[in-house]
Amino acid sequence: MTFCEYRPGLEGIPATQSSISFVDGQNGILEYRGINVEELAQHSTFLETSYLLIWGGLPTQEELDEFEHEIRFHRRLKYRIRDMMKCFPESGHPMDALQACAAALGLFYSRRALDNPAYIRAAVVRLLAKIPTMVAAFQLMRKGNDPIQPRDDLDYAGNFLYMLTEQEPDPLAARIFDICLLLHAEHTINASTFSAMVTASTLTDPYGVIASAVGTLAGPLHGGANEEVIFMLEEIGSVDNVEAYLDKCLQQKTKIMGFGHRVYKVKDPRASILQQLAEQLFEKFGRDEYYDIALAMEQSVSERLGHKGIYPNVDFYSGLVYRKLGIPTDLFTPVFAIARTAGWLAHWKEQLGENRIFRPTQIYTGPRNAPYISVEKRQSVQDQALIGFVTG
Ligand code: CMC
Repeated sequence: MTFCEYRPGLEGIPATQSSISFVDGQNGILEYRGINVEELAQHSTFLETSYLLIWGGLPTQEELDEFEHEIRFHRRLKYRIRDMMKCFPESGHPMDALQACAAALGLFYSRRALDNPAYIRAAVVRLLAKIPTMVAAFQLMRKGNDPIQPRDDLDYAGNFLYMLTEQEPDPLAARIFDICLLLHAEHTINASTFSAMVTASTLTDPYGVIASAVGTLAGPLHGGANEEVIFMLEEIGSVDNVEAYLDKCLQQKTKIMGFGHRVYKVKDPRASILQQLAEQLFEKFGRDEYYDIALAMEQSVSERLGHKGIYPNVDFYSGLVYRKLGIPTDLFTPVFAIARTAGWLAHWKEQLGENRIFRPTQIYTGPRNAPYISVEKRQSVQDQALIGFVTG
């Protein structure tokens, strides 16, 4: 039974009911549990916001202290996970390493007591605590070094920067990084969250849920766009080349990375905040050589494609912030995953509340009642594909 027309990419089709976040794409508004993300970026922290997203309300001081304490306690990795990571090729993408490690947690914590709040809490804490350690450990191991143990005296963001750079984190850098995590923590039913929900709906373990979401986030049309933005700015090289680069993209109909969004038809509110954060970092640590190129691109793309609602999205300025924080380009998407784990977990928990397995329908377009042709009478599948008889 088909209820409505087929919409490629499920555009505009509600896949769930959710009270976690809200986006107004026409006016550029994002709220987590009803609170504007701009307000949260000013006053909250990533862990407080994660608590809000996952448990539905801002924690009291006592609840927050307990949550933060639990997360500090669980930051370390089992040595077997570290040993497994040592076998990964150093040329492998850190998103693939992260996906494998997130899934591997399921080997150690395999009980699926999904109706037990203590199990849910432990899974939330473990995933939020260990994913940054995994990202930082892979970075050090691929350089041939031992991973650095987490430091209990540092907060979530400061500890990650420390594990990555082996240096005492600058307080401004750590605060800005924490706001970046907060801004990336949740964004309604995007591709990776949908992937998490579909996996969750089978009642599998939460580590499998997060691993499938990490795999989905990795693609260049989703979380992978933040590193593509830096490659694009590198390729453009100077403000003088911006117009020619855009001419080429528009002529060849290739997407300009960091621009456009299925929901936002104005500048993504997170892009505006990230741009301000980048400027704060430039003031203290020096301007990024690519920032002028980025500004020229924003101006020109808005003039040329603004009528289609194409403006900077969250990925456009985040890379410039991460570069200034000393984060390598291919860790930008894993950093996005660290943050989005909070949103994925919130949706996992919400999905369990009123679960029904996802099983959409399809519109079949292939042949029916086709004969089985014996092997000696068959034509080459490749030749038929060339003349359009067989489609993949
Ligand atoms: N550059 C040039 N044209 C674009 C762009 C872009 N970045 N994005 C959309 N368009 C045009 C597109 O060519 C199409 O034009 P027309 O109607 O004339 O054919 C129209 O806008 C609609 O595009 P679409 O591809 O149907 O839009 P979508 O909602 O399916 O895709 C998107 C949304 C984010 C995948 C797309 O805008 C895109 O590929 N952007 C570049 C990659 C990117 O920055 N991704 C990060 C997305 S935000 C954070 C995240 O999800 O991780």
